[in-house]
Amino acid sequence: MDEKTFKDYLVIKAMEDSVNVIGLTRGSDTKFHHSEKLDAGEVMIAQFTEHTSAIKIRGNAKIYTPYGEIESESKRG
Ligand code: TRP
Repeated sequence: MDEKTFKDYLVIKAMEDSVNVIGLTRGSDTKFHHSEKLDAGEVMIAQFTEHTSAIKIRGNAKIYTPYGEIESESKRG
């Protein structure tokens, strides 16, 4: 696999409690394989890997990527 795929990190900072960072599988089936709960202020640093092709974030978080920064929003509250 492309070396760059493995180099890219995402930094996810939860802006509220119970933000979910969900890893989705690589390959012909796209399924959830991991869900990590972050509380306000917690940070997760994650990479795309052989097993992870997409990352879904639920809740309000700041996401820093090599392509820029974005904030996910919460529909709650
Ligand atoms: N075992 C997973 C993997 O190597 C761990 C993982 C990597 C992960 N990046 C992730 C889990 C992003 C959730 C979100 O692919």
